[in-house]
Amino acid sequence: MRISVFGCGYLGAVHAACMADLGHEVVGIDVLPEQVQRLNHGQAPFFEPGLDALLSDGTASGRLSFATGAAAAAEATVHFVCVGTPQKKAEFAADLRFVREAVTGLLPHLKPGDVVVGKSTVPVGTAEELADLVHEAEPEAELLWNPEFLREGFAVEDTLRPDRFVYGVGDTDQARRAAGVLDQVYGAALAAGTPKIETDLATAQLVKVAANSFLATKISFINAMAELCEATGADVTSLADAIGHDSRIGRRFLNAGLGFGGGCLPKDIRAFMARAGELGVDQALTFLREVDSINMRRRVRMVDLAREVCGGSIVGRRIAVLGAAFKPDSDDVRDSPALSVAAQMQLQGAYVTVTDPKAIDNAAKKWPDLTFATTVEDAVAGASVVLVATEWPEYVALDPGELRGWVDEPRILDGRNCLDPQAWREAGWTYRALGRR
Ligand code: UGA
Repeated sequence: MRISVFGCGYLGAVHAACMADLGHEVVGIDVLPEQVQRLNHGQAPFFEPGLDALLSDGTASGRLSFATGAAAAAEATVHFVCVGTPQKKAEFAADLRFVREAVTGLLPHLKPGDVVVGKSTVPVGTAEELADLVHEAEPEAELLWNPEFLREGFAVEDTLRPDRFVYGVGDTDQARRAAGVLDQVYGAALAAGTPKIETDLATAQLVKVAANSFLATKISFINAMAELCEATGADVTSLADAIGHDSRIGRRFLNAGLGFGGGCLPKDIRAFMARAGELGVDQALTFLREVDSINMRRRVRMVDLAREVCGGSIVGRRIAVLGAAFKPDSDDVRDSPALSVAAQMQLQGAYVTVTDPKAIDNAAKKWPDLTFATTVEDAVAGASVVLVATEWPEYVALDPGELRGWVDEPRILDGRNCLDPQAWREAGWTYRALGRR
């Protein structure tokens, strides 16, 4: 099939590369010329395991190309909208400017039979508005909503082998025919038995924010339990293991620590609350306000813990922060809990050095006042406190005995509950973590 993909960020670049890998002819469209140039050279503009290989294979085969103007979509039949919907400045609501620009840019190029497929995370009601624009421009073109559930770090795998498809489809024969076209795009995964839920446009848009709200709630639930554990001397990791054995609860997404960050969960729950307010049902989502607050409190608590282990003050102390990305296997530092804690400690008078296997460049652009080191050894040299803020496998595997020789004072803060407390204590470290004795 001939496909265009609007927006070549985390979602769009991966989607374009994966669609080409499935054998489709794909053009990715983005407004940033440098991004387009890099992608045309088969290079990902961000770190995502497996993506560089798919991009270079796709561009070399001629099935995948990238361009800056919407006119490049004229030859395609299926048009995916994958642009970002960031949080508006000083507001909870999502900024829909890029979605509207992408669709308006596409309208003059639509032909009868074309299918526009929305994948961006949008407030419910947006798809209906965009469907009207599409029908006005080309009555025989159709818009579907097909939310994306990929996780950064597993984006290629999640796109090629998703755990489900959700199609939001209007109630017309034309819309049902358009859904049949989308079936052809996803033919391989559907044939392999991937479940598909076909629904109306409103439900499809809600599914996405409901899923992210549930995940955020699960994380904040266990972090709230961590606060209880701290007050009672209980252990949140054992608690999570124990409740996680109940298959109705499940152990995944019950890792207590610095909480959730990134470009999705935080802004999605806020945009969801804003939309509920517009719809007059804000009470239904007031609990998300608490989910957000619990999440933000963990960052403050971590700074307090650093102060506590330093005997009451971090002023002038050298603190090493291992991790800048919002999670491992990503170079994304958007709303990263690691950097937020690092910046707070620096503001409060500590001398903070941050390291990360992939995210230093992005982190330095966002927080130029922090000091960055490229290796753990350099980051921890002379440190009074080491904070593991992102659970990269190389940090989880650190040898406490070896690290002891590089620091000034052996104090370790486990921001992700990913280290073995006993091993660190036996090697002479003061070990502290959120929600643990
Ligand atoms: C999230 C969702 O998991 C995806 O399904 C969704 O498609 C995506 O948002 C999106 O909307 O595009 P992602 O932001 O890549 O994916 O990251 P997650 O794996 O969900 O992690 C989010 C944050 O939660 C990270 O900061 C992570 O460290 C934190 N987390 C995760 C915890 O603090 N505890 C856990 O147990 C799990």
